[in-house]
Amino acid sequence: MAETPRIVLLPGDGIGPEIVAAARRLLEALGEFEFDERLMGGCSIDAHGVALTDEVLDACRRSDAVLLGAVGGPKWDTTDPDAPRPEQGLLGLRKGMGLYANLRPVRPSPALVGASPLREERIAGTDLLVVRELTGGIYFGDSGREGDTAHDTCEYSAGEIERIARAGFEAARRRAEGGRHKGRVTSVDKANVLETSRLWREIVTGLAGDYPDVELDHLLVDNAAMQLVSRPADFDVIVTENLFGDILSDESAMLTGSLGMLPSASLGGAGAPGLFEPVHGSAPDIAGQGVANPLATFLSAALMLRHGLDRPAEAVRIEAAVDAVLERGLRTPDLAGDGDRPVGTEEMTEAVLAEL
Ligand code: IPM
Ligand code: MG
Repeated sequence: MAETPRIVLLPGDGIGPEIVAAARRLLEALGEFEFDERLMGGCSIDAHGVALTDEVLDACRRSDAVLLGAVGGPKWDTTDPDAPRPEQGLLGLRKGMGLYANLRPVRPSPALVGASPLREERIAGTDLLVVRELTGGIYFGDSGREGDTAHDTCEYSAGEIERIARAGFEAARRRAEGGRHKGRVTSVDKANVLETSRLWREIVTGLAGDYPDVELDHLLVDNAAMQLVSRPADFDVIVTENLFGDILSDESAMLTGSLGMLPSASLGGAGAPGLFEPVHGSAPDIAGQGVANPLATFLSAALMLRHGLDRPAEAVRIEAAVDAVLERGLRTPDLAGDGDRPVGTEEMTEAVLAEL
């Protein structure tokens, strides 16, 4: 990797530009980075007619890491199958960069335990990681319409399942080495109904022998959705296919009290650039008002430093600074409860910078 990491910034739509600008200030305060800011999503549709141009995909592939805000908004919502959609940009990047492993860590900040929709005794101790398969399944299978009928196809090969399962086992092993975790993978599928899920379960089970230090269990996805709200603290690593992971990661994110807190890392092959983005969307209803919560983007920048740029010490600095401002009681409107004075993006950013 070059001395000065080259980071492509994709602010995107809605609140994306505000939170990415804040994250850029944070990174500039930490060290030297070369930034290359590009259009992707609805803004790219407006400028170029497509959500992701070849030129931007190419810049991302040649970068050391990509930091993304969010894409989409009512302006581009359509049911016309031929009209361009902002989400195509995101899916195109995932596929085009080979980002098959999506990591979504859910660790409620101690100061925010009260903001969870669950009672404190349920949420206490929750620290889990959703490992979502990101370039296969129903998101990328054949789809289409014939007359008044539509179809989407879910397909998985053994190879696709194996590499994501290994990512899950290895994450569980790394977390166990930290000493805080039991080292357990919960593989989530729908093997009582779906053939892809039966293959999934067969492959995952077959790999368990390579990871004798990691416990493996299996849950059906409906049961997993239920267990996540009844005993979230019992989970360690959840590994699952694309669509199930999309749904379960939003559910897990909300356990922390706000979707506005969750970061994510999308990784491909060894040495290839990763993509880092907050799990929340573009929140068009609050865009441009200066009230967006930048913390999930800061935590995504931390994941970028740790997983994408091999700079774990700086990742820890960001995470500690975020915990510290929350501890001091700073809350953006999405986190504010009764009696809190909500702060905007700017004030939150200044506070985190001051804690670095
Ligand atoms: C996510 C989002 C995307 C997905 C959308 C925007 C296409 O919900 O990253 O979870 O479904 O993967
Ligand atoms: Mg989602």
